[in-house]
Amino acid sequence: MSDPDTKTHFGFEEVPWSAKKDKVAEVFHSVASRYDLMNDVMSLGLHRLWKHFALSQTGLKPGEWALDCAGGTGDLALGLAGQVGKTGRVILSDINPSMLEQGREKLENQGVLKPIEYALIDVEALPFPDQTFDCITIGFGLRNVTDKDQALREMCRCLKPGGRLLVLEFSKPTSPLLEKIYDAYSFHLLPKLGKWIAKDEKSYQYLAESIRKHPDQATLTTMMEQAGFAKVSVHNLSAGIVALHKGYKP
Ligand SMILES: C[S@@+](CC[C@H](N)C(=O)[O-])C[C@H]1O[C@@H](n2cnc3c(N)ncnc32)[C@H](O)[C@@H]1O
Repeated sequence: MSDPDTKTHFGFEEVPWSAKKDKVAEVFHSVASRYDLMNDVMSLGLHRLWKHFALSQTGLKPGEWALDCAGGTGDLALGLAGQVGKTGRVILSDINPSMLEQGREKLENQGVLKPIEYALIDVEALPFPDQTFDCITIGFGLRNVTDKDQALREMCRCLKPGGRLLVLEFSKPTSPLLEKIYDAYSFHLLPKLGKWIAKDEKSYQYLAESIRKHPDQATLTTMMEQAGFAKVSVHNLSAGIVALHKGYKP
């Protein structure tokens, strides 16, 4: 996508393509210091189980290389580091300095030094040669990216043949009844939790809206295939509230 006047969505708002990155940046600058606490509160801790499942699918071995894109406060990167060990390499990357700084502080306070590196990186333009990584993860990040197809192509380019991409993201609940309850929760309670805990109602309203605008399981599968991934599979978590998409670089 190159025409900056083309519209895209920022939650339910229509914005010029060129404006979305700054608006997303504002959200994450604002929520960075309370991000982890809010994750635990709003998911009742479930995000830890979703991430645990994603990490169980990396297929990583000691000494291998992994990249966590849009990695924020580093939960996935921490798990990747345990899998590749001190002889491996893990890069925790994010476009937002406030989120990355929270991640660095958290992991360094936990005494995790090797093998994690930190880098400010836009997933739409990865600064790595072709075929660099054995596994790339992106957790609750793709939803916020302006050009998702470009991001998927970049992640595919940077994987070694046989390398895996894991996309952990909110998705479409499999039951209509659950969807109704979930809608009520996310449009009424979630922004209030954001107001009380993170002092930021608007960002959590954006979260609820951005989830509804994100491609569903089947659409994201097609997007990954079109970006070059093979053997794309989907695993619904919590009845499709979240889904893990896994694809292989041919
Ligand atoms: C909801 S947080 C997810 C953080 C972490 N992966 C997790 O699962 O807790 C979304 C992250 O995506 C990042 N992000 C948004 N657009 C990005 C882009 N184009 N490239 C890299 N990171 C991006 C934001 O800065 C934010 O840290």
